[in-house]
Amino acid sequence: MTRLSRLALACAACVLSLNTALAQTPSAAPATPPEAATPEYVPKQGQQGKDVIWVPTQQALIDRMLEMAGLTEQDYLVDLGSGDGRTVITAAKRGARAHGIEYNADLVALSQRTARAEGVSDKATFEKADIFASDFSKATVVTLFLLPELNIKLRPILLDMAPGTRVVSNSFTMDEWEPDQSAGGGPECSSYYCQAHAWVVPAKLHGNWRLANGELRLEQTYQKLEGTLLRDGQQHALSEARIDGRKVAFTAGGQRYEGELRDGRLVGRVDGGGEWSAQRAS
Ligand SMILES: C[S@@+](CC[C@H](N)C(=O)[O-])C[C@H]1O[C@@H](n2cnc3c(N)ncnc32)[C@H](O)[C@@H]1O
Repeated sequence: MTRLSRLALACAACVLSLNTALAQTPSAAPATPPEAATPEYVPKQGQQGKDVIWVPTQQALIDRMLEMAGLTEQDYLVDLGSGDGRTVITAAKRGARAHGIEYNADLVALSQRTARAEGVSDKATFEKADIFASDFSKATVVTLFLLPELNIKLRPILLDMAPGTRVVSNSFTMDEWEPDQSAGGGPECSSYYCQAHAWVVPAKLHGNWRLANGELRLEQTYQKLEGTLLRDGQQHALSEARIDGRKVAFTAGGQRYEGELRDGRLVGRVDGGGEWSAQRAS
């Protein structure tokens, strides 16, 4: 667990049973289907969930998380463990299609009622399901407020999503996959669980690429990049190299290369040198 998550959990000690540290023993599947949940149902902060308890993200942080994701009307957001539906409903109110996956049937029914009451049930949908048995690969934005170890379990699934997919987590990080951005919820977010982290799923570029006049050898660690450009018989180490979704940029031999992955090829421009392209060699 990172220092930040330990701190977050320590802060949480002063707030209700939320510091049962979200780590819970799995509960039995709810007996009540979503439609049968009573309208009076009121969830309690800290109530047991399948893999993590329910604690709602504060509205100020939801707003910040959607800004960090750069959410647009073209996006399809999926909230993993959607609780009372607030992130999904906020995204739908901003014009995006949004979907919540939540194991607790009463929370699903409550979310559906709220979406109807807020007039966004056409864009905000919910299902009662286990996030670890669900396919959310079509999402362009994924939000989550789970636990460090659940984030790590989800990490390979997230990294297999389309390059450019944005992932935003309340409080918890992805261990060695460092966030591209971190930000607080601002003054309207009270002192606990007020930090969000965002990532852009990087294209998988590790390996050797053939250029017209040389070879590009890339060593990728998540969005970080190192490597060498062999050009016209000379070897240049890459510097200021990074992957941002489908885009790649690096400096080699005193020139800045910018490009993107398109149909399996890297294509782009090199400053002062026109266009460049590369195809996978291995
Ligand atoms: C900390 S709450 C976050 C709720 C919401 N995403 C938010 O930010 O307000 C985590 C939610 O995940 C749900 N949950 C726990 N394990 C789950 C699982 N395996 N599949 C789906 N939902 C799960 C819990 O019921 C709870 O509502």
